[in-house]
Amino acid sequence: MAENLIISESANKQERYESLIPQIEALITGETDVIANLSNIAAALRYGMGFFWVGFYLVKDEQLVLGPFQGPVACTRINKGKGVCGTSWAEKRTVLVPDVDAFPGHIACSSDSKSEIVLPAFKNGEVALILDVDSDQLNDFDEQDQQQLEKLMRIIERFL
Ligand code: SME
Repeated sequence: MAENLIISESANKQERYESLIPQIEALITGETDVIANLSNIAAALRYGMGFFWVGFYLVKDEQLVLGPFQGPVACTRINKGKGVCGTSWAEKRTVLVPDVDAFPGHIACSSDSKSEIVLPAFKNGEVALILDVDSDQLNDFDEQDQQQLEKLMRIIERFL
């Protein structure tokens, strides 16, 4: 397992993802524990990409329950169809929200959160967990984030 992440300070967003994702793959190689791997991935995304909040919600007994994360404290349980996370789960798709105040039913865990992207990971065709990334800037995520983070979700599915 690699001990440190190596990301150039001058790298742009695409370069950061392209550098970080192989390092995340290396980080989880040889480890099968889901919580250990999700914990390291949350830290790698937080520190490698500079996200404001990054974390996982795990599907447990028909709710999303807070899992490994990096950032301010967050809501612990979200029902299916509720908020951005519950919508991603119910609709089995990535949800990109440029302005959280314009998303009906958005769950505000932190008033500093202004935009977010939420992506599902699947096990046997069902959503097993979602990744939630929040920014304190409006309109901070785009198709590039979606494409790269969806690549990461396929890597995560290998150990679910
Ligand atoms: N805003 C999310 C809730 C989770 S927190 O942002 C960490 C939502 O509406 O689902």
